[in-house]
Amino acid sequence: MWQNIEAAPADSILGLTEAFRNDPNPAKVNLGVGIYKDEQGATPILQCVKNAEARLIETEESKVYLPISGAPAYTENVQKLLFGEESEVISSKRAITAHAPGGTGALRMGAGLLKTFFPEAKVWVSTPTWANHTGIFSSTGFEIAHYPYYDETHRSVDFQAMLMSLRAVPEGDIVLLHACCHNPTGVDLTLEQWHQVVAIAQERNWIPFLDFAYQGFGVGTSEDRCAIELCAEAGIDFFVASSFSKNFGMYNERTGAITVVAANQASAAVALSHLKKTIRVVYSNPPAHGGLVAATILSDPELYDLWQQELQDMRERIIAMRVALVEGLSSRGVDQDFSFITEQSGMFSFSGLSDEIVAWLRKEKSIYVVGGGRINLAGLTASNIDYVCDAIAEALKS
Ligand code: LMR
Repeated sequence: MWQNIEAAPADSILGLTEAFRNDPNPAKVNLGVGIYKDEQGATPILQCVKNAEARLIETEESKVYLPISGAPAYTENVQKLLFGEESEVISSKRAITAHAPGGTGALRMGAGLLKTFFPEAKVWVSTPTWANHTGIFSSTGFEIAHYPYYDETHRSVDFQAMLMSLRAVPEGDIVLLHACCHNPTGVDLTLEQWHQVVAIAQERNWIPFLDFAYQGFGVGTSEDRCAIELCAEAGIDFFVASSFSKNFGMYNERTGAITVVAANQASAAVALSHLKKTIRVVYSNPPAHGGLVAATILSDPELYDLWQQELQDMRERIIAMRVALVEGLSSRGVDQDFSFITEQSGMFSFSGLSDEIVAWLRKEKSIYVVGGGRINLAGLTASNIDYVCDAIAEALKS
């Protein structure tokens, strides 16, 4: 049956992790997949998650199916975190949320819902964007278009080009935006720039679809939601795909959410009815555990504070690693100015390392970096930073 079918290429990010696991070199370093590592190079379970899990084991009484959209305690708390407790979007009930399996599941369910009613729409993604965005929307049947985002020369957002492109997006098309911690570049819009983007969405009547997988990895959970708040204030229809993989470290619990913000409560109810239909035929209803853990933490002031502290620790360690990498390269006499790495936000840096250097690092040094030069700063630790800096310096000088 399969003899005439060619094997698919390995995934550009998760495929690296497979290759890394099989690499026998004891010095190997994985700077590929976006997973947080602590100073010891481990990805431990957050203490707030452990405490919530202990509580759940005590109190959980049944494993019956959840509603199609997930546990109400989860979806209500997701909305509070996304919009802020006092948001008009919540009090007017014009947003609906469904628990989806991770950010990918959330994007896919949002895409499925949109495809049902707007089959001719195009989906616009930034250049560059997370590799899976294109796969998710094109496998749903959407045509993909691109808007300029990253200015390689200035290592910043090419905002004028982006604006020009967004002004030309036809009414009814979908524009995928990274709410914070742009993946892969680490370069975000300023608040003022977000104002302009949201004004264009309002004027041109295209649909913003915000991917919000890194809330809390930029400045903080409230600060990082500014794009969501501006869309909410504008009163436009929009979508948010959010995830607790990174900020709760619950990567394998597949705990995400798709939120649809509509004009009013009645429209939101219609959206929910169709979102439930979309979900029902794909995974029926979500897995419970991660959602219950998140709901427990988000609704308990003590656990919430512990979570905020742990999230701050992760954020600050990544910032410290940005500084260590820049200083490490400069102290090795590398000519290029890498100081832009400290200006970027979130887990990633678009390092500017060429694909040749990325391939050399993997082959010669067992250092795994995503093609295009995206480095996961959270994979750097005090024990591997010198090795990585030595290797990059050697690659750049040779
Ligand atoms: C990443 O970009 O590394 C993460 O979002 C993990 C993934 O699924 O690609």
